[in-house]
Amino acid sequence: MAALAFGIAGCKPLPPSKDPSLFTAEEAQGAEVYRVYCARCHYPTTTQGLKGPGLQALTKVKAMPSGAPPTDERLTQTIKYGHGMMPATQISDDDLQPLLAYLKTL
Ligand code: HEC
Repeated sequence: MAALAFGIAGCKPLPPSKDPSLFTAEEAQGAEVYRVYCARCHYPTTTQGLKGPGLQALTKVKAMPSGAPPTDERLTQTIKYGHGMMPATQISDDDLQPLLAYLKTL
């Protein structure tokens, strides 16, 4: 199931990610949060799977791998409470907001 989703996403050209040199302070902070909490399971620059699906263009596509829309609410739920095989992440709101900003640059 997951492999199928990666396959489909891999066939379509994705919109480019924002150049890190153009990051706002919040996005740069979010990149650091991502490195700490998410990078060991998700590649940010491809849709290739690591432990979880690659998150390139996550918020620019209509649906995430599960089929849910990539809204702030849904992302917050996924991050805070986990999703399927993904464990919940203990994260403060001070880290969550920059992380959401960063995810939108992917
Ligand atoms: C221990 C590994 C692990 C960590 C850490 C992790 N994830 Fe995941 N993530 C997964 C797996 C596995 C899935 C696929 C879950 C499923 O559909 O069963 C997933 C799925 C997702 C999805 C897709 C949800 C959907 O509805 O399709 C998003 C978005 C996501 N993760 C974001 C994050 C973010 C952001 C972080 C950091 C706060 C993070 N993940 C940390 C393993 C992880």
